[in-house]
Amino acid sequence: MERQDTELERPAWAPPEVDIDTPSIARVYDHWIGGTHNFPVDRELARKVAAGNPDLPATLKANRAFLRRAVRELSALGIRQFLDIGSGIPAEGNVHDVALAAHPDSKVVYVDIDPVAVAHGRALLADEPRAAVFQGDLYRSQEILDAADTRRLIDFDRPVALILAAVLHFVPDGDDPLALVRRYTERLAPASALVISHAGAEEVPRAAPEAAEQYRGAVSQVIWRDNQELAALFEGLELVEPGVVRAPLWRPEPAETPDPGLAMLAGVALKPGG
Ligand SMILES: C[S@@+](CC[C@H](N)C(=O)[O-])C[C@H]1O[C@@H](n2cnc3c(N)ncnc32)[C@H](O)[C@@H]1O
Repeated sequence: MERQDTELERPAWAPPEVDIDTPSIARVYDHWIGGTHNFPVDRELARKVAAGNPDLPATLKANRAFLRRAVRELSALGIRQFLDIGSGIPAEGNVHDVALAAHPDSKVVYVDIDPVAVAHGRALLADEPRAAVFQGDLYRSQEILDAADTRRLIDFDRPVALILAAVLHFVPDGDDPLALVRRYTERLAPASALVISHAGAEEVPRAAPEAAEQYRGAVSQVIWRDNQELAALFEGLELVEPGVVRAPLWRPEPAETPDPGLAMLAGVALKPGG
């Protein structure tokens, strides 16, 4: 990673423990989705990666827009608790904003493996007792489910929406993503929900091979799955309409003109028995 020659002045929102002169993938992502929690080094890396894959920022924005619509719909169904694993930086317009706008008694727990995302998240949520963020690994389900913040904010006897947005594509088949998902969903009460978005297999050819390589180098190995493979991760749950579709096509707002070509699949399912 490149470093800047000049030291930047640290803004009040940037926690002291984060390095603002070295790019952070969490802040690169924040920049792509239109956030303000990023620095020139992050924007420079974002520009380089997106130059090879011009659809990437729009795809990630469409993913976030899907997430907001899903939270709104689940709030309308009466869900008040959200566990968002692989959340990234929970900046403006994220799950807690949507959930709390729908119902002021909603509770949101964010978890991410990236300490930089968590540090920014902690600063952002410092004055919000109804939401928390902590560092955790999706693979370590017991630690996440038993964490102090989870126990303080989430009552597993009542419905919870588990959000795995743009994170399961980092879990290879050899690590059994369905078994991983089930370690969480088996703890959820009836009428709980599972929200997934995932890099979509059909779209791989749209990205130039070198761009895919660049993205891999900058982020992590991405496993592309198709609709059926993604639907299989909802096994045992009931997919709500319209099922697994490209993220922009999942219940778009009437005013939106979704670009169906974007390479992100999405779906929402409910746990039966509610
Ligand atoms: C592409 S971003 C998605 C951010 C957000 N969920 C969204 O959809 O806009 C993926 C996030 O997953 C996190 N992540 C990757 N592997 C993880 C793991 N094993 N456990 C927890 N978080 C993980 C990364 O640090 C990153 O913040």
